[in-house]
Parts: sequence; structure tokens; C-alpha cells
Amino acid sequence: CGIIGHVGDGNALETLLTGLENLEYRGYDSAGVAIQNGSGIDVEKRSGKVEELKEAIDDPLEGDVGIGHTRWSTHGPPTDENAHPHTDGTEDVAVVHNGIIENYATLKEWLQAKGHEFTSDTDTEVIPHLIQYYLDSGLDNEAAFRKAVEDLEGSYAVTAMLSDEHVLYAARKGSPLVVGVEDDEFFLASDVPAFLEYTDSVVYLEDGDVVVVDESGVEFTDLDGNPIAREPETVEWDPEQAGKGEYDHFMLKEIHEQPTSLAQAIEGRIDPENGRIALDGFEPGAFEEIDSVQLIACGTSYHAALYGSLALNQAGVESTALLANEYSVAAPPVDEDTLVIAVTQSGETADTLNALRQAKSEGADTLTVTNVVGSTAAREADDALFIRAGPEIGVAATKTFSSQAVMLTLLAQRIADDAAGEPAADLEALLPDLAAMPEQIEGILADSDAEWIASRYQDSRSYFFIGRGLGYPVALEGALKFKEITYEHAEGFASGELKHGPLALVTPETPVFAVFTGEEDEKTLKNAEEAQTRGAPVVAVCPDDHRAVEVADAHLEIPETDPDLAGLLANVQLQLVSYYAADLLDRPIDKPRNLAKSVTVE
Ligand code: G6P
Repeated sequence: CGIIGHVGDGNALETLLTGLENLEYRGYDSAGVAIQNGSGIDVEKRSGKVEELKEAIDDPLEGDVGIGHTRWSTHGPPTDENAHPHTDGTEDVAVVHNGIIENYATLKEWLQAKGHEFTSDTDTEVIPHLIQYYLDSGLDNEAAFRKAVEDLEGSYAVTAMLSDEHVLYAARKGSPLVVGVEDDEFFLASDVPAFLEYTDSVVYLEDGDVVVVDESGVEFTDLDGNPIAREPETVEWDPEQAGKGEYDHFMLKEIHEQPTSLAQAIEGRIDPENGRIALDGFEPGAFEEIDSVQLIACGTSYHAALYGSLALNQAGVESTALLANEYSVAAPPVDEDTLVIAVTQSGETADTLNALRQAKSEGADTLTVTNVVGSTAAREADDALFIRAGPEIGVAATKTFSSQAVMLTLLAQRIADDAAGEPAADLEALLPDLAAMPEQIEGILADSDAEWIASRYQDSRSYFFIGRGLGYPVALEGALKFKEITYEHAEGFASGELKHGPLALVTPETPVFAVFTGEEDEKTLKNAEEAQTRGAPVVAVCPDDHRAVEVADAHLEIPETDPDLAGLLANVQLQLVSYYAADLLDRPIDKPRNLAKSVTVE
């Protein structure tokens, strides 16, 4: 979900609605705003998109202090009542909240016994009631807010507004919250792009922080009210970048940004002196003691993690990729020589954070690979490496996947290098191809048959993706992307597994996209032909002069490159196929139903 708050000069409503539109990617089954009007608080909220909220506000709410929220349901369905902001039933207190209040049922019962009446199914609604309860018992606004926050168990980024002062109160524990500062105007948000039009000066709050924001400034304290120092940082994303630009969808824009984002991921990370991998904060030999690596992640990031894990294995380092949400029940043992790498675009995925915390508590060395500097996973791990992909708005991850995979490929080489005391044998061959990759992707984007292929197979029943070695995570990712945005059935398989079961599903109505990376391609081709014999059209994703081109029914071309990177070029073609297939079906590509960009609940 997304939070935005505004204090200071200017019209709060406009800022809040802009912020909500910027945040819509975080959660979007309902939206609402609350504005202080001088004598009370006006609330407008409803299920549906921000656009619908905007249309519903026919009488503009006046005021310069306000809060807003976009919701992705966790407690209770997306209804008008369940939308945020929540109040205590009066015009005195309004609250927006991300996260989960684990003890809300107990608190709600307790408050109900004291005569409080609830109108929603949400856990959030207990917060304004608690604040009101403490106000009634004689506390002042700030003390009542702090007391209410103290009562909460679980995770929260919470912002509250009271009707009788121009102040916002906010607290964070386990859910991101940032403060934006611009002269005498202040913003609170769950994510920086919410207010990027207005300021690039940002303070990232830590767990346990409580802030009080009024027209004169921001006061940072801990839960007990002791002042703490928090310095603003300048974020380098410009609002242009956070907008859609010339593209119809953020996803297409982000696919097209890959030449730049990959160049940024690589920049400065190869030492020109000795051709070794140089990573900020990691002295030569930093990974010397590591004897095994576990990568933990969810969704698309899991596919990048699998890619990284295979790259590590191929470089001679023992490694496993694990789904973060399975980690608590399936983690292999760790010790101080185990490196556990959390791979997470947002750095806020609850499942990944839980696994990271578990690994840390068991004594593993931890590292986060993420796109978001200042994210929880970046701050909680022992170390962090940033993929520098820039903001990704489309819910379906594209550029962050390729940047994660490249970052992990570099890291794999580096870990192997530290372990052996010399560069891995294939590094020298890899580097020129890595340097050529951004340009090669430009080439693919300028001249791809993906749109035509998407339309040729648009009436199929299911879509299968196969690959071997580093082509396997790419096949999984190809299928995930396809199902996420087209809502059609798609599955990815290791090529060799096709004959062990999935072949039963293969018919002339199930095109098979086969990814060729240059590793054991003849086996993958044989597997593809087994499907073709059963009538399935085969789309080969491979260089032009590859033998598979003659056999296949259609071809998506990728340039020649190192087998360590070929899958990532193939992935760009598959991203385009998914995009155009979804576009033909007129799907809401940037915001697929039921999905959220960042899932901050378990
Ligand atoms: C959500 C998104 C996926 C994403 C996953 C992990 O489920 O819809 O696209 O891959 O979270 O997100 P992360 O931020 O940890 O990479």
C-alpha cells in the first residue's frame, strides 16, 4: 500500500492526489484522502483507482495539512469502508497505515467494550480509536499518538492527523516511511517517488522512529520521545524518470531502459588495472572465508537468485537459491562461513526480510542485493550491493531482473576469485561480452519480432518456456511474466524435464518458447523437437545462425554472446512477447489484477 502526507504552504489535496497517483503501483484497490479544514477533518475515500477518487471529489477539500493512502487489501475486501484514511467515527482523528497490526482483534474488543464503534474490517481502524481513547483520558495529541503506537504489535508505517493542530504524527516499524523536506513544505510517504515532483531531499526513517511534522520543521525522536539525529539525503531520481515518458506503459519503458540500467549496474565494477571485479565496500579477499552461499528471494527476484546461484555453482562455489517464504521450514544449516544473499528489488518484501532475519540470527554473513538504497533489507543485512536500475513502476519486474542477474553474475565471479585467489577462468572471456551487452540489447529492442509472434500465437491455450542451465531461470521468468500480465496460462520448465510429465499437456495449442544459451543446446533442441512432434509450435530464442532456427516454427533473434549472458538477452525478447501479448488482450499491463509491486505482508 502507499502513504502520502503533506504539511505546509500550498494546497494539500493536489499534493496528496499527485502522490497517490505516483504511488498507485504499490497498492491500488482503494484510495482516500483526509484534509484538515480548520474545524474538523474531511475524508474522501473509496474502492477503485485514484482516478475514481478524483472524480468523486466534486467539492474540492481546502486545507494545507492532509494524508492519503492507496490500499492493497490484507484485512477485509476492497470496499469504501475499508479504504483509508480511517477515523474514530468523529472528525477529530484520521489515520493511514501500512503493515499488519497483529493484536488488532484484542485491541478492537477492548475498545468495543469501552463503547467504541467500528465501521470497517481493517486492523488499521483500531489506531484512530486508540488515539481518541488516550485523548479522552486526558493526554495531549502527541502523548496520545505515542501511547497508541506503543500498544501496537506487528508492523506499521502509520501517519495520524488531528483536527486541532497543523501537525502530522508518524511512526515506523517494519514498513517503510520517508520524510521529504522542501523549505517550509514537508512530506511523508511510504516511498520516495510519491513526492519526487516536489523535493529530492529525503530522510529515511528507521524502525522505532517517531516523527512530528509541522510548518516549522520535523522532529525526529525514538518511541520514548528522546531526540535522534536523522540527516536528509539527496535522491538522484528525477521526476521525469518516474514518469512514463513516450511509452504507453511503464513496463515497456522499463524494458527499453535496460541498456542504460545494465550499463549502470556494471559501471565502475570492473577494475581496469587487473580486470577483476571491484565492489564498493569489499576489499580484495573479502569473501575468502565464504564456503557456501544461499540466495533468498521471491517472485522475479527468485529467478534472478536462481540465475546467480547457477552462476556461482558454475564458478565452483557451492550455492543454493531458496524461496524466501519457504526459508523458515526449508533452510539448510548456516554458520559464519555461509553467505546469505537477499535478492529483492524493493528491499521491503516481508517474506525476504523474515528469511534474512532468520539467517542473521543463526549467525550467517548477510548481504542484500537491491534497487532501493535505504530499504529495510539494505539496512538490516551486514552489507548491501545496489543494482542501480532506477525506479521501477510497472508491477511486473523487468529491468530490475536483468540488473539483479548481472549484479549476481559479477558477484559470483568475485566470490570465486576471492576463494581461489585468482580470477575464475572464464572471467576474461566474459568481460567484453558484458561490456557489449547494453548495445546488444539496444539492437534487440530496435528490431524484434516479438510483437508479430505474440499476435501469431494469441489464440493458444497455454504457453510453455523451456531452457537449460542459465536458460532455466530465464524460462521460469518468461512464464511468470507472461502469466502475470496476460492472465493466460504459462509455465516454465527445465528443458530436460518436459519429457518427465509436462509433455502430457503439449498440443498444437501450446507454443513452446525454447531458450538457447550455448550450453548443451543440442539437448534443448531435442526437447523442443519432442514437443514439436506432438504438434506444438516451437519458437527458438537464439542467434540467427543457430541450428534451432531451421527446426523451429518461429525465431526470436539474439546476438552471439557468452553463455553466462545469453539467457539475459533471450529474456528481453520474452519480456517483449509478454508485453505485446498482454497489449493485444488489452490488459492493464502496469497494474495486473491481484498483484502488488511490493508485498510487505507474509
Ligand atoms: C511481488 C511482485 C513481484 C516481485 C516480488 C518480490 O510479488 O509482484 O514482481 O518479484 O514481489 O519483490 P522484491 O521487491 O523482493 O524483488
